[in-house]
Amino acid sequence: MKYNLTLEEKFKLLTGADTWHTETCNDKLPKVLMADGPHGARKHVDGVRTPSIAYPSLSLLGCSWDGELVKKNAGAMADDCIDNDIDILLAPGVNMKRSPLCGRNFEYFAEDPLLAGRLAKDYIKGLQEKGVGTSLKHFAVNNQENYRHEQNAELDDRTLFDIYLRAFKIALEAQPTTVMCSYNLVNGAYSSENKRLLDDILRKKFGFDGVIVSDWRAVKNRAKALKATLDLEMPHNPVSFDELKHAYEQGYITDDEIDASVERVIKLIEKVMVNRKTRKTTTTLADRRDIATSCAEESIVLLKNDGILPLNKTEIYDIVRNGRTTDVGGGGSAYVTTIEPIKSLLDVLTENNIDAKEILGTTQELDLSEYRICCISNSKAIESEGYDRKNLSVAEYAIEEDNIVKACEMGYKVIVVIYTGSVIDCSRWIDKVNAVVYAGFGGEMINHAVYKVLFGEQNPCGKLAESWGKSLAQSAISLLDEYQSSAYYKERFDIGYRYFDKYPENIRFPFGYGLSYASFEYSNLSIQKTGDTDFILSYDITNISNVDGKEISQIYLSQRISKYERPIKWLAGFSKDLIKAGEKKTVSVKLDRQAFESYNWVMQNYYVENGEYFVRIGASSQDLKLTAKVKIDIDKKMQYSQEHKPNERLFSK
Ligand code: GLC
Repeated sequence: MKYNLTLEEKFKLLTGADTWHTETCNDKLPKVLMADGPHGARKHVDGVRTPSIAYPSLSLLGCSWDGELVKKNAGAMADDCIDNDIDILLAPGVNMKRSPLCGRNFEYFAEDPLLAGRLAKDYIKGLQEKGVGTSLKHFAVNNQENYRHEQNAELDDRTLFDIYLRAFKIALEAQPTTVMCSYNLVNGAYSSENKRLLDDILRKKFGFDGVIVSDWRAVKNRAKALKATLDLEMPHNPVSFDELKHAYEQGYITDDEIDASVERVIKLIEKVMVNRKTRKTTTTLADRRDIATSCAEESIVLLKNDGILPLNKTEIYDIVRNGRTTDVGGGGSAYVTTIEPIKSLLDVLTENNIDAKEILGTTQELDLSEYRICCISNSKAIESEGYDRKNLSVAEYAIEEDNIVKACEMGYKVIVVIYTGSVIDCSRWIDKVNAVVYAGFGGEMINHAVYKVLFGEQNPCGKLAESWGKSLAQSAISLLDEYQSSAYYKERFDIGYRYFDKYPENIRFPFGYGLSYASFEYSNLSIQKTGDTDFILSYDITNISNVDGKEISQIYLSQRISKYERPIKWLAGFSKDLIKAGEKKTVSVKLDRQAFESYNWVMQNYYVENGEYFVRIGASSQDLKLTAKVKIDIDKKMQYSQEHKPNERLFSK
């Protein structure tokens, strides 16, 4: 080993030097600096928090369904990291949204693993191509915040692989610098020391050969974690040196195990040293703010519009909101302290010469104008790391909801703008208002983006990446309020649209739903078989309106007959296309074996079942436009994915 580390120095290297840096081992190695994302470069060293640009939350970016956009957003954040000497950004998170109450849903892309995995892959590329490392997190099955440090997630292997690990498997194709293990237990063992999860699955089955870093203070037993191939415990833990030394002297951990981890950490440090020499910023702060604005614009979702939008710039508007400033994002390690305060919607309208007034708190009886833009928002205290929400419409909404209902009763034309990171229950007012725009936790530039959508400078083209149920009781999983030592995932794959497909009457807004100022028609689906499990789908989308627009079309698969229980349908592909007014565009999407496969826990392998599959093209998960069938008929030996040696015993005659 070219750094001649002593055994003691090796033990030191396997735990952080402090909260955010790796160990130098008596200055034999440089320190590597880590900082949180995922919504901005959140450098926090020696008690000093460096302000940065706040970008749209991953839950809003998920509504873009646009990998190039997510990559561009990450590239801008990479420049913030370079400016602040951050080597590794602790992001992205790809945990599934099992319950709409999970406090950190705003930090995750989607309820579906294909969408989340593909967007995370582009996010990782956006940072790493600019010389900033990443940390794909939280591996794994971290789907709630309550009791996250000691709760055990119990689930069967098909649920584990098909739903909760699949986004990680897809995102790993971008070769993230690190993977961060979660706090919770998975089927009885803490993730930080879960050898099956970290070594058998993440390393051997998924092929990850980088550094596995712990979530902060997630390591319970440093020696056990080492044997599970967790390489770097963060932050510094004063007891770990002695724990490792003692375990070594007892023969519990070996030189090979120690050196394997040390080598991976050193390889990471060497990669960082190369990055430092080569990386450079390519954008100014102003450029980055423009990127944050355009990413928010293309992610905003138009949920309702009776024709009132886009608004006319010559009218007078009341903006009604509660007194609190809108938060740029959710609470906890993802919250970004911005360089400049977020501009209010009133400021943005005013600077664009719109005649607008602001009414804070409970609504006064003003009859100055005909239109009311009512804002409803979640603070970072409601949606946050560390705890889950108690319901989907908390007390804080009371004023804001009263304002909405009152404005409708007073005869105003009401446009609602929702600034939340996740689902809210809007049953009190949704049928009364004229239009609803979902702005998410959109970052510091969100009101610039909202203005452009409301007044038609941007045709809204986002679609929901999380299903909205009519109420908590009508949602998939409402757990979380009582302490449970173990969360048993008895619903298996039935989360999000996979749940709502069985209970469509419970849906408020479906996964993949979003309106546009344009209108699109779908036609001419044709399928070309290019291999045993490979197909090219082609279909036409016509923009029958007089405004250009982008349309997100989605491909869902269903199995006609299966030996295994499978969801009614699952997302197998998607495409986002600009279609000009009056244009007919032919969209082409490839399906490969990953679209069809499911995990077979007996064979401990992915598996493609022979038979017929329905292919459906949808404008949302509930608005299926075109249908066709394909047939898979492959040799038995090919049914198991060859990349993971199938269990030969089961092939015996
Ligand atoms: C936190 C979070 C993790 C974050 C880390 C460092 O507890 O779970 O997402 O990156 O610790 O702040």
